[in-house]
Amino acid sequence: MPTVLALETSCDESAAALVRDCTVLASAVASQVDEHARWGGVVPEIASRRHVEALPGLIEQIMDGSGLTLADLDGIAATVAPGLAGALLVASVTARTLARLHDKPFLGIHHLEGHLCSAQLEMDPPCPPYLVLLVSGGHTELVRVDGPGHYTRLGRSHDDAAGEAFDKVARLLGLGYPGGPAIAAAAATGNAQRFVLPQGKVSRPQGGYYPYDFSFSGLKTAMLRQVRALEATGEPLPLADLAASFEQVVAEVLVERSCRCAQDQGLPTLVLVGGVAANRRLRALLEQGCQQRGLQWRLAPLAYCTDNAAMIGVAACQRLAQGSSSAIELGIAARWPLEAAAQLLANPAPF
Ligand code: KG4
Ligand code: ZN
Repeated sequence: MPTVLALETSCDESAAALVRDCTVLASAVASQVDEHARWGGVVPEIASRRHVEALPGLIEQIMDGSGLTLADLDGIAATVAPGLAGALLVASVTARTLARLHDKPFLGIHHLEGHLCSAQLEMDPPCPPYLVLLVSGGHTELVRVDGPGHYTRLGRSHDDAAGEAFDKVARLLGLGYPGGPAIAAAAATGNAQRFVLPQGKVSRPQGGYYPYDFSFSGLKTAMLRQVRALEATGEPLPLADLAASFEQVVAEVLVERSCRCAQDQGLPTLVLVGGVAANRRLRALLEQGCQQRGLQWRLAPLAYCTDNAAMIGVAACQRLAQGSSSAIELGIAARWPLEAAAQLLANPAPF
């Protein structure tokens, strides 16, 4: 069973983890959210600088507690795409330098492959084939998984990602950043049925709708109109009811289309991963939806929903077990499709 050191710096969390197969030996995350909150979103230049400052300490911390040295490892991995270019470079350069120094294989991992692999950290991991609803700050996708590295996208958002919608609506409601946890906290005491909000369907040019795709821009506009109308009354905004109604419609639409996709495609299990998978209303509705339709379900453990390096380590272990590793000259890419994740392990490197 391979043991790898994995590093993740694609956005605003610096993270390092030691993973042996699908067991996390150690995992540490240094979040920068407090700093970015002042600006209402991630400032790329600040993110890169903080990664440079935080990463060495995180690596030291997890190695020190493990009783292992870098010489004991079978590989060193880093997220190399997609993400903020300057931020990705920090983990990439660090991992490649350590790999070179200690003569270990280097593995460049796709961030979304990492999120998919977070499901393997569940007590009872899913068996392929299964459908994954991947909901994060940058992506909302339905991905069919037929085995490690075999991914087919069956659905996606045509505009904002679900997490992005949470972040933008939280800003509209003055609830702060990141929006997901802020909306969830405000929604806890709210009436989720008070406001009727649109589910956002995506039209097909030839008529009808894409059954497994999402759109959150209309919902965002509906929230803005609702808030403006309420403000005009001069009364304080009913924040809890607004947050709960918004959270409810997002969760409903995600669950409904995911379940339909799993059923139509004959996939017996639906898996939930990504930062928005930390949302308790979404977790509860997905469980309920699957139960009603006779589907099995798996939820990424709460600790591994938002960005972390343990999930990158699991993906790296799977790739190592297949006999793959990346070229040491592999760079980073701000955008790169999940379906092309295997090319990150190709020689020569794709970028
Ligand atoms: O996966 P992630 O950490 O980073 C990306 O790869 O994008 O996801 C971050 C996103 C943010 O948009 C954040 O608002 C959202 O996940 N999020 C949540 C919750 N916790 C984080 N959304 C809804 N409910 C939550 N509890
Ligand atoms: Zn992520």
